Amino acid sequence: MKKPVIAIDGYSSTGKSSISKVIAAKLGLIHLDTGALYRGVTWFALQNCLNDSGTIDLEKLFSSFDQIELEFKNIDGELVLFLNHIDISKAIRTTEVSENVSFVAKQKEVRDFLLQSQRNLAEKGGIIMDGRDIGTVVLPNADYKFFLTASIDERTRRRYLELLSLGIEANEQQVKENLIERDRIDSEREIAPLKQAEDAIIIDNTTISKKETIDEILSHIRKI
Ligand code: DC
Repeated sequence: MKKPVIAIDGYSSTGKSSISKVIAAKLGLIHLDTGALYRGVTWFALQNCLNDSGTIDLEKLFSSFDQIELEFKNIDGELVLFLNHIDISKAIRTTEVSENVSFVAKQKEVRDFLLQSQRNLAEKGGIIMDGRDIGTVVLPNADYKFFLTASIDERTRRRYLELLSLGIEANEQQVKENLIERDRIDSEREIAPLKQAEDAIIIDNTTISKKETIDEILSHIRKI
């Protein structure tokens, strides 16, 4: 039997990736965190495509796509993101990347650059992909679609604790402002905005735990 294709979209810091990772392990699926790809392109741009004023030069970035090789490697069961053979899994979580990623992700050229490789990965089935436009644009025919949401204060708390656990210094108010700003840019952009697919199941996990969110998702998958 063909393994399912599952799309998990939603707001920043609703636990999409960590929840998807557990579901992938339980159901024997590959997990792809598509936000990491957008962060990887942003990290590349910050390293290689700045103009004199220190902001990202989009034209330079678009003409550099052939120098960007993003690859997930399975290291001890974890998919680790490499850019041109360098492990960037920690570098893409920095505040600098978080503050620039929505600007990079709203560019049509960037979305086109990453679209086909995401679709190719899902072709054989057996995958859970998390992001913002997976159920609407990348995999509109996914077998199951979920849309995660939670209050801004709860999401701020989660992101703040995540950064601390990664050894990245953070200020809670700044974390909150970054989440609000990113969600705004992601939701308002013209191409593939963050929004729930009409056929997605919405889960608000403000007051439920990660485990309860996972159980809820699994209950839908097992029911259908
Ligand atoms: O999931 P994340 O916070 O790591 O995602 C980082 C950014 O990437 C997010 O602000 C929006 C963008 N993104 C996107 O536009 N489309 C996706 N499928 C995944 C992420």
